[in-house]
Amino acid sequence: MSKNQPVYRSITKENPYKVCFVCLGNICRSPTGEGVMQHLVNKEGLSAFIESDSAGTGAWHVGEPANSKSSMIAEKYGVKLLSRARKFEYSDFEYFDLILAMDKENLRDLHQLDRKKQFREKIMLMRAFDPMPENKEVPDPYYGGIHGFENVFQMVMRSCEQLLALLKPHIRT
Ligand code: 4NP
Repeated sequence: MSKNQPVYRSITKENPYKVCFVCLGNICRSPTGEGVMQHLVNKEGLSAFIESDSAGTGAWHVGEPANSKSSMIAEKYGVKLLSRARKFEYSDFEYFDLILAMDKENLRDLHQLDRKKQFREKIMLMRAFDPMPENKEVPDPYYGGIHGFENVFQMVMRSCEQLLALLKPHIRT
């Protein structure tokens, strides 16, 4: 599997492709990833083939819904954020095909959890799929203003559109 090539198998209803978006708190960036990916997948009628979920590397917000600013921006674009925060667990490495970190700290934390380096190829920065040629991190918007949340949404949307385009040729109906 090369850096921007996330698929190495056929995607079927029996064996759907599973993506997990990961950030620190699982209330802003990764719920946006989960919601946007689900929205795009639903729009194309592919919900039987691609699963989307999210988790945080930290546990402070476990059980909480998405941040109100994240939800407000997403709804502006017709996307509902339905997640409840949970902490990323070791078993998620087995379950998911692709684990997408929002920033390099999330990536480092995931690598530390994968201490035997068994799952390295599944773990990537989400913005590896962002066609915009700039910094590959999604900045934490939590302590900033609404503009930061809008910025997160746009980065997530571009990345998810590109990821879905890469997944689609592998879907066997
Ligand atoms: P997220 O944003 O990682 O995008 O969900 C954050 C949410 C909460 C905190 C940090 C980042 N926090 O420190 O509580």
